[in-house]
Amino acid sequence: MQTGSADAALAEALFQPANLGGLSVPTRIAMAPMSRYKCPDGVPHQAVTDYYRRRAENGVGLIITEATYIDHPTAPSYEHVPNFFGQAALAGWDRVREAVQSAGARIFPQLWHTGSFRQSWMGPVQGTPGVGPSENTNAFTNHPEPTKAMTDNDIAEIVSAYAQAAADAQRLGFDGVEIHGAHGYLIDEFFWERTNRRVDRYGGNRRERTRFAIEIIQEIRRRCGSDFPVSFRFSQWKQQDYKVRLGETPAELADVLEPLVDAGVSILHASTRRFWQPEFPELSDLTLSGWAKKLTGLPVIMVGGAGLDRPGLKDAMPASLEVLQKPLARNDFDVLAVGRALLADPEWALKARAGRMGECRPYTKDLLNSLD
Ligand SMILES: Cc1cc2nc3c(=O)[nH]c(=O)nc-3n(C[C@H](O)[C@H](O)[C@H](O)COP(=O)(O)O)c2cc1C
Repeated sequence: MQTGSADAALAEALFQPANLGGLSVPTRIAMAPMSRYKCPDGVPHQAVTDYYRRRAENGVGLIITEATYIDHPTAPSYEHVPNFFGQAALAGWDRVREAVQSAGARIFPQLWHTGSFRQSWMGPVQGTPGVGPSENTNAFTNHPEPTKAMTDNDIAEIVSAYAQAAADAQRLGFDGVEIHGAHGYLIDEFFWERTNRRVDRYGGNRRERTRFAIEIIQEIRRRCGSDFPVSFRFSQWKQQDYKVRLGETPAELADVLEPLVDAGVSILHASTRRFWQPEFPELSDLTLSGWAKKLTGLPVIMVGGAGLDRPGLKDAMPASLEVLQKPLARNDFDVLAVGRALLADPEWALKARAGRMGECRPYTKDLLNSLD
């Protein structure tokens, strides 16, 4: 069989409907959340709407939006990121939702607090310090300012801001929300012993360090009810340290994931850079996504390197889907999220299905300048 037709058969398997915690998704392909920094006023305008619509029209079953800030002065750090609060931004997101759903796809906004990535010189409210579980000299040497340790009041406000964003998403008709609990941002900083040295009820052992995330999930459940889909994105790695892991063993990973499930998460999104790699190779060749499914029984979104020959943010060429074979056969995942391949080519899914993946536009960093 030629590579094109082998890939087409694998891609075809992704064109089956999926069930994500009660939500039917028309294909097993999601667009991975990708910050695009194209919202100078925090509002997604027409170009952003059209960008997501193009993917929804071309075989993507679920759009997970770029990360959006929750409504708290300490949440932002990077500029030109969209908000998920305020009349103008929510009206913009409602137009994006309408465009995506009219094209037949589902859509979740990704909700974000950047934690200690914020520094007090950053806008929009200058002088507002970055916050985290403990006072930390920032992981980045060019960010010498220490993060302020969150008080109980800060925690209550931020928990409430997450839940308000989820309630707004539900009111507007979004199909669910995704909580960004990965990559070393605020929620992940609570998970990590190096950045969470609290001695109160938000610190302690692995399970105890999930309390902040649990309170967010419980408050979302209280305001949105039990049926609203809530995806939780987690990663083993942090931007501050790519080698560190949430769990060195399946039991340690379960110590983090199980409390999230008990609190009411309906979908897990296992963020890796190469989805096919075994997570605990000394035990088996099961992927992180496969482990998340096995340990929790929840539907899982898998991500990392789909359709590309290189991980990381560097330029990458289209590559065979062969690595999908085993995870598909073993049912390691429910939905495959595709990031850079879809950023580069809105027709990636249809071209893959037609055995024409070689015709996909390669991913190059200069594509980040536009919103094609
Ligand atoms: C330009 C860019 C922006 C990203 N922004 C986010 C983000 O806002 N939230 C998030 O959880 N991950 C973000 N990621 C990570 C992607 O969601 C995805 O996990 C990663 O790109 C690996 O998937 P891929 O190999 O299919 O691109 C971003 C990745 C890229 C390339």
